[in-house]
Amino acid sequence: MSKSHTKYVCQSCAYESPRWIGKCPNCSAWNSFTEELSVRAKKVSAREISTGPVGAIPLPDVTVGNEPRISTRVREFDRVLGGGIVAGSLVLIGGDPGIGKSTLMMQMASAMDSRIILYITGEESASQVKLRADRLAVKPSRNFLLLAETNLDVIDLLLEKNKPDIVIVDSIQTMYHPELESAPGTVSQVREATARFMRFAKVREVPVFLVGHVTKEGVIAGPKVIEHMVDTVLQFEGEQQYAYRILRAIKNRFGSTNEIGIFEMHDNGLREVTNPSQVFLSERKFGSSGSAVVASLEGTRPLLLEVQALVAPTSYGVPQRSATGFDSKRLQMLLAVLDKRVGLHVGQYDVFVNVAGGVRADEPAVDLGMALSIVSSLRDVPVDSQTVAVGEVGLGGEIRTISQIEKRLAEARKLGFERAIIPKNNLKGIKLSNDITLVEVDSVDEAITKAITN
Ligand code: TYD
Ligand code: MG
Repeated sequence: MSKSHTKYVCQSCAYESPRWIGKCPNCSAWNSFTEELSVRAKKVSAREISTGPVGAIPLPDVTVGNEPRISTRVREFDRVLGGGIVAGSLVLIGGDPGIGKSTLMMQMASAMDSRIILYITGEESASQVKLRADRLAVKPSRNFLLLAETNLDVIDLLLEKNKPDIVIVDSIQTMYHPELESAPGTVSQVREATARFMRFAKVREVPVFLVGHVTKEGVIAGPKVIEHMVDTVLQFEGEQQYAYRILRAIKNRFGSTNEIGIFEMHDNGLREVTNPSQVFLSERKFGSSGSAVVASLEGTRPLLLEVQALVAPTSYGVPQRSATGFDSKRLQMLLAVLDKRVGLHVGQYDVFVNVAGGVRADEPAVDLGMALSIVSSLRDVPVDSQTVAVGEVGLGGEIRTISQIEKRLAEARKLGFERAIIPKNNLKGIKLSNDITLVEVDSVDEAITKAITN
């Protein structure tokens, strides 16, 4: 075959080059180029993708199907999707291998028993899928069709034949186009496979879920290059050693990207966590230092979390700073503020911080609680266990206003907290309630004095 029929494509960012290069000029990855056939994907004509009349039409005249949103019957899942599945949408579900993507898809499919579901499995055999289904609490109906196939041409035929209401592709990295010589999972295969499913979804108005694996660097390999093609990108995350799993929308054409769904993995599948605050606080040890409760907000939903710190004299020359579930730059900043504004010298101490339960707390409103937790550990004096703290810490040591304070306080009240430390400027917006005492603070210094009695 003459050289002109091939090209070299970077497997991490899809950069193309006519010859092999060691380092990608686009994403700087090493050894990422593989040879691929220059097969041009068939151009789709406007008529082929259009589902309505061809040509421009006034927006008010556009008709929406009579069932704009289909419920997955899994409330946490519906919430992340923005209120259910949108007809004809293409949803990518990314996550580490083993996190529970197939389980989630299987549970969703089994719960929607009145619809024809086509579950295309490329990773497991039909009997392996059946074994998983047997483990789950839900029992699939006869409308649940399983197809163990990875050849896109065959799949195309079967999609037309079975006329499914919902399609699940597990995983997009195993699908391949027979005319492309590159292996399944390469950028060009993944892209071609996605284009095929996208065409099917839009033309037939059938929602399609694509499962994609994430590499250890945290990017959805291959699927990263299709993020722009799909309507919704969901990330299923969690720590392997914890049972909690969080489903997060990273991109959503049909809803907010702030929403999260919380699940717990059991031996008979995923269970929705309807009272996350209670669950995340359940293992709290009362009366110990280095722990504080914060009222964080994930999307529209308040979430009480325990933030922990361990400050201990360093045994090596360079003190360690380590953050789990919390931004490490933010930790550095908090330590610098505590040093400069409060006179708390942690230069000779190792500082470890953690958000309990394996969740991430990236919101600035968590700052104050984290700062209190650090001070509490250093002084070995506990923060009052009936107190929650919210507030963003500024570089001047000031406590800045946070959003949606009422919602956070309501959650704290619901869980029986008696006292809330809040930014002074937030007080204006609060309708006073007498079942939680509000302690307004202006600076970290003041918050420390009021929260940690020593
Ligand atoms: P799986 O859905 O296969 O993950 P993925 O598709 O993301 O690779 O889930 C794999 C893990 O979940 C596996 O380690 C076993 C565990 N698991 C349970 O704990 N309970 C269950 O009911 C199921 C089906 C799986
Ligand atoms: Mg799987």
